[in-house]
Amino acid sequence: MIQKMRGTLDIMPEETPIFSYIEKVARSVCERYGYKEIRTPTFEATELFARGVGSTSDVVQKEMYTFEDREGRSLTLRPEGTAGVARAMIEHGRCGGVLPEKLFYFINCFRYEAPQAGRSREFFQFGTEMFGAAGPHADATVIALAHDVIKELGIEAELHINSIGCPNCRPAHRDALKTYFADYEDKLCDTCKGRLKTNPMRVLDCKSPICGEIANGAPRTLDYLCDECDEHFKTLTADLDAMGIKYKINPRLVRGLDYYTKTVFEFICPGIGAQSTVCGGGRYDGLISELGGPTLPAAGFAMGITRLVLALEQCGAKIPEVKTPDLYIAPLGADAAKHAVTLTHGLRKLGIFAECDIMGRSLKSQMKYADKIGAKNTLIIGSGELESGKANLRNMSNGEQREVSFANAEELAAELKA
Ligand code: HAM
Repeated sequence: MIQKMRGTLDIMPEETPIFSYIEKVARSVCERYGYKEIRTPTFEATELFARGVGSTSDVVQKEMYTFEDREGRSLTLRPEGTAGVARAMIEHGRCGGVLPEKLFYFINCFRYEAPQAGRSREFFQFGTEMFGAAGPHADATVIALAHDVIKELGIEAELHINSIGCPNCRPAHRDALKTYFADYEDKLCDTCKGRLKTNPMRVLDCKSPICGEIANGAPRTLDYLCDECDEHFKTLTADLDAMGIKYKINPRLVRGLDYYTKTVFEFICPGIGAQSTVCGGGRYDGLISELGGPTLPAAGFAMGITRLVLALEQCGAKIPEVKTPDLYIAPLGADAAKHAVTLTHGLRKLGIFAECDIMGRSLKSQMKYADKIGAKNTLIIGSGELESGKANLRNMSNGEQREVSFANAEELAAELKA
């Protein structure tokens, strides 16, 4: 038997309503913030991610699904959404358009990682990007949007924030980190030994307990910020305070993608297991120019939808119930079956959720099925009913019956609404 690939997901009909619910909530919050939906391709030129996400990131170094197409071009299934959206901004000449440009998306992403609860190789993100606003109020707005989506879903999450500075202040911090970690090099894990050479800041968020302990004593990015970055961070935290959004300053939060500048943030749900980051984001002022566009500041975030599902389940948040049929029509015999199928079509056109038998089942099995699918009412049509054009409409929750006319869909629809 052919099975799905390790790390991919079948989201079965019982689970899709929770996904749709998350999407609905996220969309409605985005609309309130003036964000518009964007859709970009599932695969892009590999170079986009190598340049955009960054050659020292784990994502580019070891997690991409890269392949050659029939014309020998190197393509990659998107490991995240920001680089594609940034490319589209440049390609469609929108960097000099009406700014800020505020965009949101729902996408599938692909990363070759070890699958576990909350981590898969194909996964789903809800993300937002804002282009053109450089100041800290933009960062506060982006965080407030993520915060509102999470709150509106009823999820409890901790907000962690940090500033990793800009190309002006980062070199001094990088040097300080190199000096600090040099004393501990033997004790660091193999990955961090490599990071020490390519991107020492990444040692700060290593999950290994030994590296973590060493990182706790490392020079903090916040102590090396230039005046502009320092002021930016102070205004951001003042905005969050004024908006009543609680946060924790986490000096070890540096994020795994290379494009970030200044603000970085994550929302964490400790209760959902090892993969507890439900949302990650930050400012990325250098990405558009890195990709060949003009200098254009930007900030955004993405949430892992399967992690939001875990968080919703864990905190017992209420998910709206799945709709059940208003009516199930049970025909007896071939003539009635023919009539039932047309009548059901007519009701559906009038906006009624109607079902009828198309399996040729006995009346008993039809009633069992109607019960299983949660039909609110049933209507049995036999030859007598066909002749008179009238049948008993049975309310399945209280057993009450009343005679209704089913000569045409309009009349029956009116009876159902009565
Ligand atoms: P990221 O932190 O790599 O950021 O991913 C964002 C979120 O996607 C994570 O917090 C997590 O919830 C979810 N996620 C990541 N990898 C997996 C996986 N293998 N399985 C399940 N869920 C996963 C970005 O992708 C940035 N593009 C976010 C951003 C947008 N920054 C600025 N704008």
